[in-house]
Amino acid sequence: MGDLITMDDLTNEEIIQILDAANTLLPIARGEAYLPLLQGKVLGNLFFENSTRTRMSFETAMKRLGGEVLNLSTIGSSVAKGETLYDTMQMVDGYSDIAVIRHPRQGAAQYSADAVNIPILNAGDGAGNHPTQTMLDLFTIREAHGSLEGLNVMMVGDLRYGRTTHSLSHALVRFGAKLTLVSPKSLKMPIEIVSDLKSHGAEINETEEMISSISSADVIYMTRIQKERFPDEDEYNKVADVYKLDASDLVEAKNEMIIMHPLPRVNELHPNVDSTEHAKYFQQAFNGVPTRMALLCRGLGIEVPKKVK
Ligand code: CP
Repeated sequence: MGDLITMDDLTNEEIIQILDAANTLLPIARGEAYLPLLQGKVLGNLFFENSTRTRMSFETAMKRLGGEVLNLSTIGSSVAKGETLYDTMQMVDGYSDIAVIRHPRQGAAQYSADAVNIPILNAGDGAGNHPTQTMLDLFTIREAHGSLEGLNVMMVGDLRYGRTTHSLSHALVRFGAKLTLVSPKSLKMPIEIVSDLKSHGAEINETEEMISSISSADVIYMTRIQKERFPDEDEYNKVADVYKLDASDLVEAKNEMIIMHPLPRVNELHPNVDSTEHAKYFQQAFNGVPTRMALLCRGLGIEVPKKVK
């Protein structure tokens, strides 16, 4: 009921409602106000794959709203002894009120949701989806541009395995975005996703070249080439450093263009971009806190007040 597995679980109207709720919760996310909306609730924070931002921002979100957090990772749990995902989820069902799951296997979040009664939030399933990231991405885009409608968005890097781009592209085309998908041939957005985007009426340009599209972009969404997803290291090495965005590449960019990145970055985004007015990726990572607060409230059926004092 309160699950969030892919962006298909939310209507456009619900997306806007959640972003509005996240905006209301900003003072709490910053620690400037306290509102224990989730007091007495327990979050199972289940990470079968590494994370810094998603894990910590969910934990911060829960704690800032007065809730408790149980953390589980593969190291230090009975997952390392071979316990199945199904059995692990039965434990989580008994110990917590809502759970966040990140797993290297595509489909693991849906499998988990089907195995339990508590709401499940997908925090990244292999090369599948990352809808809570999409919600904070949309929050960041709306914060900068005032609207989600009709933007010109470039997505750059690993579009094949990049679950953040899979979920975000789907959401953006529902708001009329025009997408420029920049990747090496071997890391193109999967054909079934491109077909789905086109079926929503999206205008899509697929290219291997990054620089010429910068001047018309409202958003550049950089992504890391994900070494851990490649079956063969030689294949990774062929494309590892194919895109490197540098501050000197931005001279023709629109003033209001923003650069985003789900992070972590490797070499694709030079630190000299950090001090430009375009860089929004650290703000984007912070925005995970209010957005995930709103998503936890949605999952648990807790209404967010229209105003926080
Ligand atoms: N953006 C993101 O998912 O970062 P983490 O892998 O650190 O959670």
